[in-house]
Amino acid sequence: MNTNVIGRPLTRVDGHTKTTGKARYAADFNQPGQRYAVIVSATVGLGRVVGFEGGEVERMPGVVALITHRNAPKLPYLPHKAIIDPAVGERLHVLQDDSVLFYGQPVAIVVADSIDHAERAAAALRVSYETRQPVVDHADPQVARTVPGAGADKSRGNADAAVAGAAVKVDEIYDIARENHNPMEPHATVAAWNGDRLTLWSKSQFLVNEQAEIAAVFGLPTENVEVICPFIGGAFGTSLRTWPHVTLAALAARHVGKPVKLVLTRKQMFFTTGHRPRSLQRVALGATADGKFTGVIHEGTGETSRYEQFSEALTAVTDYLYSCPNVRTQYRLAQLDTGTPNHMRGPGEASGIFALESAIDELSYKLGIDPIELRRRNEPKIDEAENKPFSSRSLIECYELGAERIGWAQRTSDPRSMRDGRLLIGMGTATATYPAFHAPASARVRILVDGTAEVEAAASDMGPGTYTSMTQVAAEFLGLPPEQVRFRLGTTAYPPTPSHGGSWTMASVGSAIRAACLEAKSEAAKRAIADQSSPVFGASMEAVEWAEGRLRRRGDTSPGLSYQEILTKAGNPIEADGSAKRDPETAEKYSMHSFGAVFAEVAIDPDVGTIRVRRLVGAYGIGRVVNPLLAKSQCTSGMIGGMGMALMERTVLDARDGRPVNAHMADYLVPVNLDIPKLEVLFANEVDPHVNPLGVKGLGEIALVGTAPAIANAVFHATGTRIRKLPILIEDIL
Ligand code: MOS
Repeated sequence: MNTNVIGRPLTRVDGHTKTTGKARYAADFNQPGQRYAVIVSATVGLGRVVGFEGGEVERMPGVVALITHRNAPKLPYLPHKAIIDPAVGERLHVLQDDSVLFYGQPVAIVVADSIDHAERAAAALRVSYETRQPVVDHADPQVARTVPGAGADKSRGNADAAVAGAAVKVDEIYDIARENHNPMEPHATVAAWNGDRLTLWSKSQFLVNEQAEIAAVFGLPTENVEVICPFIGGAFGTSLRTWPHVTLAALAARHVGKPVKLVLTRKQMFFTTGHRPRSLQRVALGATADGKFTGVIHEGTGETSRYEQFSEALTAVTDYLYSCPNVRTQYRLAQLDTGTPNHMRGPGEASGIFALESAIDELSYKLGIDPIELRRRNEPKIDEAENKPFSSRSLIECYELGAERIGWAQRTSDPRSMRDGRLLIGMGTATATYPAFHAPASARVRILVDGTAEVEAAASDMGPGTYTSMTQVAAEFLGLPPEQVRFRLGTTAYPPTPSHGGSWTMASVGSAIRAACLEAKSEAAKRAIADQSSPVFGASMEAVEWAEGRLRRRGDTSPGLSYQEILTKAGNPIEADGSAKRDPETAEKYSMHSFGAVFAEVAIDPDVGTIRVRRLVGAYGIGRVVNPLLAKSQCTSGMIGGMGMALMERTVLDARDGRPVNAHMADYLVPVNLDIPKLEVLFANEVDPHVNPLGVKGLGEIALVGTAPAIANAVFHATGTRIRKLPILIEDIL
């Protein structure tokens, strides 16, 4: 039965489709009679629309409709229960009234016979407003209203007293800039109505949620909406929830009675489709002179919008990462007049761990203890927050693997002690961690008469290689070569899955595929056993076994029966559904997280302050590796995202109106090939029997999580200047 397809470095099954331009992304779909919609975005930060000079716009060439709050249909906006939509609060109701809640909010849509005509008319539309001063800077305590975050404050022991009385301490503030996801593919939706049924070709990481959300907004039965998304050109979390443009596309299509295509501009990708919220954090550490933590305090404030409450795991890792009797964490949200933030690339964990791991590095210098040794001295035996064992934890092994690979032993400990000519060299390290989630998922397997198999799930593939890795899982459990398995995803017509995010797709969908395959195989065996002419006729299920996709009597040395041989007789395929969720007892017993260690080497020009990352080494314990090639690619990509967070990415808001002033790729910097150093990825040889039947802990987010603090710690080692903000810019170190 075991063909060992899991663990093979299979190249992408969809690689050819993608590289030959045959892969179709949301905006590539076209429908007969299709019209084009362009959103007009508010150019004020807060207030209300008082007028449109719309008469002329409606007479411009090709214009089919101008839709504003004055003529848009009133939509039901029913609540619905799902994981992402809506966040706490009430989602933005587009074109339902005259209010403007934030800069860039849609205030009108122009529909025309071509994209050019729609854009021209949208640019000509004049909107007048009554304005008020929005609150867009959460660092200003005078104006930003702070509310408790969704995570409860946590405390064990007395952290404040412990830190106050500690022999050695660090107590600092960390500030991480707002960032936008900036995937290559912009958000896009093609909406087509057929009576009261709606089809959406739409960029989405969470198809069944988009289906449920749009059904709720329009007051339709969920099954009347189909969402199709076979390919995603990057997302980083921005497509986890369904943003207002999807509603607008459907609304416009209904209004004009034709299918409508709506694509956001790069600039609009900075307005209504989420962002990593700016965070302000305080971390205070107390330790004994020999480096044992006595107290840890982590207080963080993130941002949310005025109408919804978005929360993320900003301080969560601090609860379980190290051994310490006195720990207190607290999370708050500043309510701003901007769009609602969203999960972005290893969301709260990445931001939170920057503060914690920077503080630990700082403490290591005060103590004169090597940063790896300091973490070793505080390695917990169990999760002290939950008071239960980890299902597996390879943090120290990851530090050892990474240290050896980067040559940590050659590092001299003093800041500014390493040079390469006139360049200052620094080496830094930091811990990475991310929860090993597992959400309920389902899948369908069909074994065809020709002996090949089709597998279906309503999942997405934003780039990690889900098409390929799920093919491997199905091939493994069916005992077929991967070439004989076709995995399909990307439509709500398939069995529901959770969001393609949170690093839980393999744990969740993979486990469901496994269950469906085992069920299909059992059906095939039953069929063979019932067939009088079959060599296994009349055997009990226990008396037969599968080997390499063939069925035989246990212990028999004959080649056995192939699926084709079993199915040809009856002439009809076998279809089986499977579902999987985490076993609640195991969840009760174990704390489940991935752990890793990231190492960075930087070279800094002391005269002009340029920071070059020369090497990044990431060592991760992620349980079983389904495909080492894809896994490595996931990790190098995550590390590049972490470089962006460390040194480049920030969205700057104009204090007057909340306008993102760098809402374009020329001024919003991300690492490009010339910035990207040698990236090395290592995996601990980790076996975790508890997380799920596949033994996978999930991969994606963790690769980014420790990267920014590793780089910041390397910058300190190189320069002796501790930077407690991101991104770290030239002017910060000069
Ligand atoms: Mo990821 S931020 O869950 O797409």
